Amino acid sequence: MTDDLTSATLDLHDESEEGAARVTGWLEAVMRGFHQGSPTEEFGTRWLQSQRADGAVNRGVWQAPVAGLSNAVPVATFGHIVKTINTGAAVVPAWMITDVTVAPTHRRRGLMRRLMTENLDAAVADGAPLAVLTASEGSIYQRFGFGPATREARVRVDTSPRFRLRERLADDGRVVIVPATEAWPLLEKVFARHHEVTRGSVGRPTYYEEWLKGYDWDEMSEDRKQRLAVHLDAGGEPDGFVAYAMKRKDEVGEVEVRDMVTAGPAAHLGLWRFLADIDLAEVVTAPAPVIDPLQHALVDHRVRRVTSVGDHLWVRILDLVACLEARPWSGEGELVVRVIDELGHADGTVRVEAGGGRATAAPSSAQPEVTLDVETLGALYLGDVPVDVLARADRLEGTEDAVRRFAALADGSPSPYCNTHF
Ligand SMILES: CC(C)(COP(=O)(O)OP(=O)(O)OC[C@H]1O[C@@H](n2cnc3c(N)ncnc32)[C@H](O)[C@@H]1OP(=O)(O)O)[C@@H](O)C(=O)NCCC(=O)NCCS
Repeated sequence: MTDDLTSATLDLHDESEEGAARVTGWLEAVMRGFHQGSPTEEFGTRWLQSQRADGAVNRGVWQAPVAGLSNAVPVATFGHIVKTINTGAAVVPAWMITDVTVAPTHRRRGLMRRLMTENLDAAVADGAPLAVLTASEGSIYQRFGFGPATREARVRVDTSPRFRLRERLADDGRVVIVPATEAWPLLEKVFARHHEVTRGSVGRPTYYEEWLKGYDWDEMSEDRKQRLAVHLDAGGEPDGFVAYAMKRKDEVGEVEVRDMVTAGPAAHLGLWRFLADIDLAEVVTAPAPVIDPLQHALVDHRVRRVTSVGDHLWVRILDLVACLEARPWSGEGELVVRVIDELGHADGTVRVEAGGGRATAAPSSAQPEVTLDVETLGALYLGDVPVDVLARADRLEGTEDAVRRFAALADGSPSPYCNTHF
């Protein structure tokens, strides 16, 4: 750091006047960085509880006081929590990076680069197999080895009588509307079931609990419009939920889905039936997987219109062998793969031997058959994009035969979906 800048980890348990001011200042810097209003005291208290519960590690860079002003608000922030990710074949630790901001007065001086490289070093020292983040801009994080690995769509579904599901899937469960004051234990169970079966799912930060209990983090106040419906399976166990609110826009009643979590197809389609049955609304807008079973369950798939698609979860492989062994593989065969990583963490050549849905990977000195950089590996890790497409984008090196064999082994497992925002 330069003479007037010092970096430190925020002590979330320091309740001294100075410590509390630093905590409040750190939060203020994050809110400012993302162009949100200054937090209220209540927001700050809830946020702190949630950060403590998640064991958040928050770094900041503070400037020496100038012009007699307080310096409690840092000029850069960088946080992480450790939860888990479902890779499609296993649930492994996920180092979740968040709250990356640098004040406009200190941009482009390498502060973020420094915080990021230090943080990834810490992740490796901690044994994290991979790191994940979500990005507000599309061209910042590739240089640190992150690849966009899941996408999320927003859909607008016409729920007039045109909305009809094919009748093939019998749903012997049912939907119940649950008050926010009672719902949390059910929602928690649903998410745990969803996380076990959904490739690309990451563990949810604690602030989801506050939100689903009715605290609106954006408005910094109680949300009395949000409703919750839970799908129960045939045995009465919760296996899906939806959080939604009614809106009227241009004289059209709209159900705005804010969160939808399901652990299986019956819950997913059962909740869509429920949403379509809500009276005084002709439209449902919702976040959705890009490859969405709903589309194929509809009699007229055009009632579901995609209004936007964006990248969501970015993956950064840190431990090459552990990550390759933790993901699903198809078919049987072996291939020597070279991964280039400028930061060194995942750099190396490995022989991948696939069989029985998994693979073993071991360092190899053989001539690589396929070469790719760590960012490209991150992008294909969860199966959102097939090898063939990346090869046609000139992101892989190898003979046609080697790339075809790589595709046969690496592709073909469930498409990912991450519905957690952090
Ligand atoms: C994005 C942000 C964190 C960058 O911080 P910074 O300290 O200015 O970045 P650095 O000076 O360390 O730059 C590191 C590298 O990223 C590049 N970079 C930084 N911001 C970028 C941007 N917005 N778009 C593209 N590249 C960017 C730099 O050119 C630099 O590249 P190089 O090291 O290869 O030459 C900062 O601009 C910010 O706070 N933005 C608003 C909040 C935000 O968008 N946060 C990211 C949320 S996930």
